[in-house]
Amino acid sequence: MVEDLLREWSGERVVRRFDEPTGAWFFIAVHSTILGPAMGGTRLKSYGSEEDALRDVLRLSQAMTMKQAAADLPYGGGKAVLAVPAVPPPASEGRRDLLLRYADVIESLHGTYVTAADMNTGQADMDVISERTAHVLGRSPANGGAGDPAIGTAIGVFHGIRAACERAFGSEDLSGRSVLIQGCGAVGERLAGHLHDAGAALLLADLDGARAREIAARTGGTVVEPGDVLTTECDVFSPCATGAQLTAETIPGLRCSVVAGAANNQLGTAEDARLLSERGIVYAPDYVVNAGGVIWLAGYETLGWDEETMEDHLAGIGRTLAGVFAAAEENGLTTAEAADGLATARIAAGRAP
Ligand code: NAI
Repeated sequence: MVEDLLREWSGERVVRRFDEPTGAWFFIAVHSTILGPAMGGTRLKSYGSEEDALRDVLRLSQAMTMKQAAADLPYGGGKAVLAVPAVPPPASEGRRDLLLRYADVIESLHGTYVTAADMNTGQADMDVISERTAHVLGRSPANGGAGDPAIGTAIGVFHGIRAACERAFGSEDLSGRSVLIQGCGAVGERLAGHLHDAGAALLLADLDGARAREIAARTGGTVVEPGDVLTTECDVFSPCATGAQLTAETIPGLRCSVVAGAANNQLGTAEDARLLSERGIVYAPDYVVNAGGVIWLAGYETLGWDEETMEDHLAGIGRTLAGVFAAAEENGLTTAEAADGLATARIAAGRAP
């Protein structure tokens, strides 16, 4: 039930708008504006039901609040879902019209919500949205944007892997460390490059075998079949494809010492972090380690950072993780609980007295 979903949600407001010409539902969930405007991407997707779309946007908006707070950015968390009967093809007239109508809804919120790209949306779509509202990040560089945030995400994950290795092995040196990357897409491919430069031995898996083979050839890596990823021996498992890989079913079979990757919502349930720690696996909480994308967009497009400042903030993901690992040990928490503690403390400190 829609009411049940809203009752369980801790956010500020949800905007729901029916798009008559396409039959789509637009949802914008403003989860928190305590630390700044609610920022998070626009997901363009067909859902089984309106309720499924609402569930997705509520869950994702909450995770964005935690991500922005853990990254110490002057933003709150939000998310949008355009639940369409069918995803309109890129650059089509229908898609452009849909995005312009959606942009008008964003504009009506007067900056409470700031959008960016997410699943099935990209720079060209943000360019279209920017024709009607200034509350958009992730436009193309030709249009004043910062380019693909996956560049920042991959650098952030790289620093996160180093910090997690320091925790697990007592050294952040990656030379000779085996790292299995699940998903060789926009983030995974770039991450493979950074890890290769640092001397890591790469294991690469992608549903698109040609992608994995191509990157393996470039980096001297080894291809792993997608179905074998969760039982292949490696030092570091880096999920960069899809969420919910770490569950009560899969964790007993893992043969790694560290999990650190870009995917959102890596744990099946919050308790799975406990199962990982009981197995002695160092888990880098997903929303901490994958925050490089929002850092990239906010830093370059609204905070006026130069390259050096950006590099420092992306490296800061490693420092944040080191603090999370230490807090977890000190307080007998899982690393996921310690990250939640850090984010909620920052939000509490930002709340007006
Ligand atoms: P992408 O769509 O460019 O790449 C994903 C790759 O994973 C594709 O090559 C796909 O074939 C592969 N894949 C999908 N399911 C797979 C499976 N079960 N096994 C092996 N390979 C599989 O996505 P992108 O941008 O690289 O993002 C990767 C993950 O990181 C996603 O979960 C995304 O939500 C998350 N993320 C991405 C950010 C970004 O800046 N792009 C920021 C934060 C999170």
